[in-house]
Amino acid sequence: MAIQIVTEPVEKTETIKTIYARRAVRKYKDKPVDKKLIEQVLDAGRMAPSAMNKQPWQFYVLTNKETIHSFSSEIAAVMTKGALKSGVSGIAQLLKAASGLLHLSHGIDLHAIKDPVFYGAPVVIFLTAPRDNEWASLDVGMCAQNIMLAAKSLGLDTCPIGFGKYVEKTKIFSRLHVPASEEVKLAIILGYGDESPEVHERTRGNQLFID
Ligand SMILES: Cc1cc2nc3c(=O)[nH]c(=O)nc-3n(C[C@H](O)[C@H](O)[C@H](O)COP(=O)(O)O)c2cc1C
Repeated sequence: MAIQIVTEPVEKTETIKTIYARRAVRKYKDKPVDKKLIEQVLDAGRMAPSAMNKQPWQFYVLTNKETIHSFSSEIAAVMTKGALKSGVSGIAQLLKAASGLLHLSHGIDLHAIKDPVFYGAPVVIFLTAPRDNEWASLDVGMCAQNIMLAAKSLGLDTCPIGFGKYVEKTKIFSRLHVPASEEVKLAIILGYGDESPEVHERTRGNQLFID
């Protein structure tokens, strides 16, 4: 399959521009996000399609710095434990595994940064859905994309954090008050980005038009 740098869209509507401009941002300014803006992006999430219109999502929003740091380090601890359990030994190997887990191509010292999972973002949103809904993961994915595009269009940046789901394994999970019937599917971080990441290469050759 050919890999090419993403091409510019032919037609540039505002929506298409926003889709192409969104990036996973992992560095944030130390600037809070107005609650009204957070509510606005969550409202865009609510407008997502969902199977049988079940709208299965719930949003658990953190905006307190200390709370975010606590959850970040607890999740990092769970991930590190997981890496150790899977046979990773030695600090160099462990850090390599951790940077892989964090989706980073460069090495990272987990202990050197304060917020290894949420990258210093001022807002963390956990998205949950009922465990007994077979379509929930798809629905939440659509909801998440609405949130991220709405945020981008409002001058904010985001990053989906799949590892946010490990919050369920932390000893402070009960602080979120998520009922046992719900599963944490994803976290999204939100804030004013302090980096402009390159566009990642996109896979081509995966469109098959059938006559
Ligand atoms: C379901 C999902 C889970 C992700 N989890 C993480 C994560 O835990 N940590 C992280 O840094 N990035 C995470 N990402 C971001 C991806 O690494 C990123 O979207 C991808 O590299 C493409 O880059 P782009 O979003 O800038 O186009 C996740 C993305 C998705 C869709």
